[in-house]
Amino acid sequence: MTQRMLRLIVVKLYNASAMIVVDLPDETATAALAARISALAQPADIITLKGDLGTGKTTFARAFIRARGNPEEEVPSPTFTLLQIYECDPAPIWHFDLYRLLSPEDTWELGIEDAFSAGISLIEWPERLGLLLPERRLEIALAFGDRPDARQVSLDPGTGWQARLAAIAVDA
Ligand SMILES: Nc1ncnc2c1ncn2[C@@H]1O[C@H](COP(=O)(O)OP(=O)(O)O)[C@@H](O)[C@H]1O
Ligand SMILES: [Mg+2]
Repeated sequence: MTQRMLRLIVVKLYNASAMIVVDLPDETATAALAARISALAQPADIITLKGDLGTGKTTFARAFIRARGNPEEEVPSPTFTLLQIYECDPAPIWHFDLYRLLSPEDTWELGIEDAFSAGISLIEWPERLGLLLPERRLEIALAFGDRPDARQVSLDPGTGWQARLAAIAVDA
């Protein structure tokens, strides 16, 4: 992550705006941000990944998972399985892609309550959960930028991530 991006995060945090917006000029920047957030994740955290097809939700999740465990880990998109679980310390990472979910209640069969209570949840297409989506979450929204490899990310820390996002900036 570049110093410029980090300065931007600091400024926005001190201005106490809940939502932080950061430019990601290329895929390396997306992966770097994912690794930083990954290092701060704790058991029972819920991180949602919104954005159109191709904006980089799975790319973000892959870098997040690799940063916490095996850097060579194969991380396919769980488009058809809806869920892939990665054993990591101190908590497994549950990577959901709910695009094909028919009804929110179907996630009970996937064990989503275990994910929420003890795992680290990364959820693509969180909108599909409707009212079952917990308030307590870090909400990440990816959007296309002005060049093919550029993306813009907005981070809504909710209550649980405000201090941790500040730590990302301070650590740099
Ligand atoms: N800055 C960037 N961040 C993330 N992905 C990027 C970026 N620039 C280009 N890409 C490419 O965009 C695609 C994103 O695909 P993917 O992560 O599967 O998106 P989604 O899961 O949102 O549908 C990948 O082919 C990736 O290489
Ligand atoms: Mg995806």
